Amino acid sequence: MPAGKKVLIGISSSIAAYKICGLVRELVRSGAEVQVVLTPSANEFVTPLTLSTLSGRPVYTNLVQNKEGEWVNHVDLGLWSDLILVAPCTANTLAAMASGSCNNLLLATVLSARCPVAVAPAMDHDMFLHPTTQANLQRLDAMGYRIIAPGTGELASGLMGEGRMAEPELLLQAIREILLGEPFLSGQRVLVTAGPTREYLDPVRYITNRSSGKMGLALAEALADRGAQVELIYGPGTEKCRHPGVTTHPVETAAQMLDACREVADHCTLQVYAAAVADYRPAMFSENKIKKSKAPLSLDLVANPDILHYAGTHKKQGQFIVGFALESENEIENGLLKLHQKQADLVVMNSLRQEGGAMDAGHMECTLLTAHQDPVHLPAMPKRELAKVMVDQFRQLLNLGLVVYLLWVLGWNSAYAQELNCQISVNPGKVGGADQQFYANMQQALTTFVNGQKWTADEYQFQERINCSINIMLDERISGNTFKATAQIQSSRPVYNSTYTTVIFNYTDPDWQFEYNEAQAMEFNENAHTSNLLSMLAFYANLIIGLDYNTFGKESGTPYLRKAQQIVLNAQNAIELGWRLNQSLRNRYWLSELLNNSAYKPFHQGLYEYHRQGLDQMHKPERVIDARRKMLGAIEKIHDVNRNKPGGMLIPLYLKAKLPEIIGFCSKALPAEKAKVVEQLIAMDPLNQAEYNRINATGGGGSGPGGGGR
Ligand code: CTP
Repeated sequence: MPAGKKVLIGISSSIAAYKICGLVRELVRSGAEVQVVLTPSANEFVTPLTLSTLSGRPVYTNLVQNKEGEWVNHVDLGLWSDLILVAPCTANTLAAMASGSCNNLLLATVLSARCPVAVAPAMDHDMFLHPTTQANLQRLDAMGYRIIAPGTGELASGLMGEGRMAEPELLLQAIREILLGEPFLSGQRVLVTAGPTREYLDPVRYITNRSSGKMGLALAEALADRGAQVELIYGPGTEKCRHPGVTTHPVETAAQMLDACREVADHCTLQVYAAAVADYRPAMFSENKIKKSKAPLSLDLVANPDILHYAGTHKKQGQFIVGFALESENEIENGLLKLHQKQADLVVMNSLRQEGGAMDAGHMECTLLTAHQDPVHLPAMPKRELAKVMVDQFRQLLNLGLVVYLLWVLGWNSAYAQELNCQISVNPGKVGGADQQFYANMQQALTTFVNGQKWTADEYQFQERINCSINIMLDERISGNTFKATAQIQSSRPVYNSTYTTVIFNYTDPDWQFEYNEAQAMEFNENAHTSNLLSMLAFYANLIIGLDYNTFGKESGTPYLRKAQQIVLNAQNAIELGWRLNQSLRNRYWLSELLNNSAYKPFHQGLYEYHRQGLDQMHKPERVIDARRKMLGAIEKIHDVNRNKPGGMLIPLYLKAKLPEIIGFCSKALPAEKAKVVEQLIAMDPLNQAEYNRINATGGGGSGPGGGGR
């Protein structure tokens, strides 16, 4: 989260204003400074007192703030901000911003801003789709304003449709991305070493160097800003790191640093060795203070372990190692030699002859060296700035590095990258809190397993991974390390050309029973059922991938749904719950049975038509009507499957996950289409009859681009 950043939130007069209170609180909690500015009539929707209490700062509305005539300097506010977010932004404020009007404090501040400006529109469906509003949005977009698209749902007017302000979580995500960049390392654990080490002669004397640890610290924070869970192992004198995404491990000696690295390295995809480790330590350590004597004293030194070399030579497939090289001559040549000798993937070379070459400087200049690409030179800048640039470079070089690595090692024609971006949480609520570290380690190990595993042979970029979550609520610790749990599994996918994400799968599986041993290797075998825990994770991973693929390419998910079925077959003889036919009508057996049943073929075609030919096309006004027809057609296909093979758990699950979205777009259909789809939906999911009947009651009309929704 954007700790230390200054966010100005402009609120205009919309009913959605109340939602901003939660956003302000969340931002303040995460360490951001928040200044709220209201348009003159916004305080009819939310009180300045609430907002100033939450933000801890006075809330401004007018250019002249109080009876004494104190002037609020909009230019200062504009300059103060790292980001301005206008949310909710009414059609009126939007129009004023697009035309450069500045007859209130918020508009004047926006005009004075030098920082990024984001806008979250909130208005009625028809106002939002009105050509003037759309033209205003395009204008702001062209000026570089970030438009946070509204969602579809119930509007203040009582109508269903587009125009509902993006939910606060989405606003928070947008703020985070604007301020910190895309969280492309989310779900990844990263190791960073920083600072010097101290090698003791006796209890009070030691050998060390001038390293301040600033570069390593800045890198740890920049990596955490990009979503990584960072393990920072740092030597003495390094400034304290307070970033919530960084876990700190203070050490003193090189030997301690190596031990700390060995403990976490296996779980870290990326490892950055920025520490200035002492190359030697005294051969002897005196327990007592060495006494002064007249005789000359000579020190015997022995070599310390080379931590980077250890990491490079113990690297596993999919891990990426970054080292540093401080050189004073033949810099590139020596840097490349270190890259090679220590088996790193990238070396950050800095020269003592460059600006900031001295270790404890505030600025630094460096050159990034890899085995297969040209050196990338980064000019002198403050270390915090440099760290951000470096992380972006790591990202690019990381992907390329992996391609080269695999082509070389395996002769494959594809890149190694993980498919899933899975947030796994292990919630030990019901089984007691004594073993917090054990559960945290379990959560991390499961996350590393699911996100680190290569489930397909396809190439993925980090940002293309499939977003999903598995929330494991531990219900009982049966004995030792055997648990009973309930797991909620969700996946979603982005909709093309919008900030909207659509839910693909959402299921609560009450039958998780598994054994978890910290020491046991998390190695999954496709052909045998070795661990119930790994089989469950692998089953859902394949299912999520299969369904996701089916929404993009016609039946392209079939191989993964088959793999999920194979996992069920392997598990059939296991004594654990959830895999067998007669245990329940709602279990993993049935999920896989229905997904692979030939009667469900049209269901999968429906997934493709609904998402690829429907939702993904909604951003083009001229395609809206056609896209909606595809979605209605998909519902009809799914309805036919249900009629031919009634009673399966899959269709109600699907409808439940998609309910608000389906109601949203169906509400804009033609009356005859509405009547038909409502009948089909009720036939499939009678429990939600009242919800579906709302479709008939709402307006819409389905002609022209205005008939569209997301
Ligand atoms: N390094 C390490 N352990 C050591 C020494 C160095 O992990 N005992 C790492 C540093 O963290 C850095 C890289 O190796 O990432 C290169 O460090 P540097 O001091 O430039 O080189 P050395 O290997 O120490 O070699 P030399 O001093 O001869 O240049």
